[in-house]
Amino acid sequence: MPAIETTELRKRYRKIQALDGVSLTVQQGEIFGLLGQNGAGKTTLIKVLLGVIGGWEGSVKLLDEPAGSSHIRTRIGYLPEDHNFPDYHTGYSLLDFYGQLLGMPGAKRAKRIPEMLELVGVADRMHYKIRSYSKGMKQRVEIAQALMHEPEIVFLDEPTDGVDPVGRREIRELLLRLKQQGTTIFVNSHLLGEVELICDRVAILRKGKVIREGTVASLTQQKGFFLVGLAPEESFPAVEVQNLGYAVQPAGELWEVQLIEGQTIDPVIALLTTKGLHLRHLLEKRQTLEDLFLQTHQKESGHPAGSRDSYDEIIDLKRAQGGRR
Ligand SMILES: Nc1ncnc2c1ncn2[C@@H]1O[C@H](COP(=O)(O)OP(=O)(O)O)[C@@H](O)[C@H]1O
Ligand SMILES: [Mg+2]
Repeated sequence: MPAIETTELRKRYRKIQALDGVSLTVQQGEIFGLLGQNGAGKTTLIKVLLGVIGGWEGSVKLLDEPAGSSHIRTRIGYLPEDHNFPDYHTGYSLLDFYGQLLGMPGAKRAKRIPEMLELVGVADRMHYKIRSYSKGMKQRVEIAQALMHEPEIVFLDEPTDGVDPVGRREIRELLLRLKQQGTTIFVNSHLLGEVELICDRVAILRKGKVIREGTVASLTQQKGFFLVGLAPEESFPAVEVQNLGYAVQPAGELWEVQLIEGQTIDPVIALLTTKGLHLRHLLEKRQTLEDLFLQTHQKESGHPAGSRDSYDEIIDLKRAQGGRR
C-alpha cells in the first residue's frame, strides 16, 4: 500500500488553476521531494493531502484512506510554511501546548517532549525562549511539533527556507534519522541543491503540473556524454578519437566525449589501452537539477501566498487530531 496516492488531482482558486491533473505515488518509508518555483502549487498539494482545503477534483489517498478523514489525520504530521509560532514559548512549552491540543495525557507528554527535543538536537536549550533560537533550531523544534504523535507520514513545507547552510545540513540529517525510524517524509522545496540530496525520489511541479518525476540520478543523467581523464602528463589523442566518429572537446583537465547514435564508449577505451595510456577518470556526465530546472521553467514572477494563516490551520488540524484520539 502506498503512503500517498493522488490521481488527476485538480484544484482551482477562482482564476488560478493551482493543481492541474497531478498524479503522484509516494511509497511508505520514502523521502519524497516536491520541487518547483514559488507559485507552482506545492503548498496547495500538501493542503489537499492534509484535508485542510476542499473544492478539489480527482482522487487522493493516504495509507489507502481518503485524505481529510479524521482517522487519517491522527497518523500524519505537518510543518506549515511561513509559520509564525508564538515565540514567548520555550521549546518545551511549545511542544507541551501542542501535546495538549492533541489530547496527549500529561505523563505521556512529559516523556515524549524531551525525547523529541533530543531527536531534533534542541534538548540542551529546551527551557530557553524560542525567540533566542537560531532559525535552524526554530525549524527543528517545529519539526518536533509535527512528530509529537508519532505520525506515519510527515509533511514538511519548505523546511530549509531561510536557514543557514549548517542549519540546513542539520535538518537534512534529522530527516535521514526520521527515515531510519520508518517515517514517510514528504517535503516541499523551491530550493535546489538542498533537500533533493536526501530524497529517494523527486517530482518537479510547474504551474500545477508534474513535469518530471524520478530519482535525482535518473533526472540528471545526460545520456551520451562521458568525461574522460588520463594519468598526469599523458595527452589525450583527440584527433584519433574524432577519427573513430566521436565528437570531442576539452573540459578543463578532462575531455568530453559525445556518443552519436548507437555508439558505445568502449572503442574509445580500447584505443586508449592500445596506445598504452592510463585511464584515470571515466564518468557519464550529469547535469545538475538546477540545469534541468532552467531548461524546463520559463521565467515567471512569484505569486502572493495563500490568504489563510498557517498557524490557524495547524491549530485546527491538531484539534481535529486530538478530538479523535
Ligand atoms: N488561498 C488562495 N487563494 C487564491 N489563490 C491562491 C491561494 N493559495 C494559493 N493560491 C495560488 O495558487 C498558486 C499555487 O500556490 P502555492 O500552492 O502556494 O504554490 P507554492 O507552494 O508552490 O509556492 C499560486 O498562483 C497562488 O497564488
Ligand atoms: Mg509553498
